[in-house]
Amino acid sequence: MESLEEKIKQAGDLKTLETVRIEIFGKKGVLAAEFAKMKEVPNAEKKAFAQKLNITKAKLTELFDTKKMMLEAEAIQEMMAKDGVDVSMYHGKPVSGALHPVVETMNRIIDYFVALNFSVEEGPLVEDDFHNFEALNLPKHHPARDMQDTFYLNDGMVLRTHTSPVQIRTMQKSKPPVRMISPGSVFRRDFDLTHTPMFHQVEGLMVDASGKISFANLKWILEDFLKYMFGDVKVRFRPSFFPFTEPSTEVDISCIFCKGEGCRVCSKTGWLEVLGSGMVDPNVFKAVGYEDVSGYAFGLGVERFAMLIHQIGDLRSLFEGDVRLLEQFR
Ligand code: PHE
Repeated sequence: MESLEEKIKQAGDLKTLETVRIEIFGKKGVLAAEFAKMKEVPNAEKKAFAQKLNITKAKLTELFDTKKMMLEAEAIQEMMAKDGVDVSMYHGKPVSGALHPVVETMNRIIDYFVALNFSVEEGPLVEDDFHNFEALNLPKHHPARDMQDTFYLNDGMVLRTHTSPVQIRTMQKSKPPVRMISPGSVFRRDFDLTHTPMFHQVEGLMVDASGKISFANLKWILEDFLKYMFGDVKVRFRPSFFPFTEPSTEVDISCIFCKGEGCRVCSKTGWLEVLGSGMVDPNVFKAVGYEDVSGYAFGLGVERFAMLIHQIGDLRSLFEGDVRLLEQFR
């Protein structure tokens, strides 16, 4: 009896325990053999013999059941330890999103002008000839139309080549004074290191009664705006030509990489061109039916700003959707 209990207790795994079970409880096992001895026991002792044997059987059964439960639990633990994943060992950084540098730059630009009470206007990407060219003092066959490599659609419409048509639409739908910006995508047939067929501009327009808006206002706001975007830079206004402004100027900032000393980025000039601007041409006001007003307008390329701010060399990389580039802006 004692040795049987020991055998159960000592079984180290379920397989061994099963062998022990057959040895004790099986048809040819120890208990069966003991019960078989009943026949030879004298009648008077039969009862006591059976009772003792039943108690032994009950004890062994209980011991066996307990042992089996323990070994099964151990086996499950062992299996889980082997196949399980230790989540506390995971060290990967969680992946978080970030704004695309063009969107982030555009938002910064918008913030500046919204704080000065400019409204934010939008226009269609597919434009008619009137809004994209004609009303902007670019009549048909005007040579300056070649300044923009236009995508023409079959029905005479175009993909807008700049955000300037939104100036026209905004003046058409409202009376002066006007104070608006218009961010959005524009399209030109061009593709190299610094040109993509789609890019983004922010247009600006301020119009008020004749004499109220002067070149000095334009100069002040662009200087202030460029310092807000690029920090402590010098700002230079260079005479230029746009059909829709007169006079027209292109605006440069002192090179943010060499501080004006001259380097590769600024082609040794010390200056970076960042904007086109000017006083709105009277012909533009005529086209929208505005009288006795004056105003300024400007337009800038958002990608150019983003590339300078983040020192991105190839414009095309902004549109390849490579997460390795985007991950740098998290
Ligand atoms: N529309 C011009 C361009 O795309 C930029 C500009 C806007 C210039 C407004 C002057 C005034 O190049």
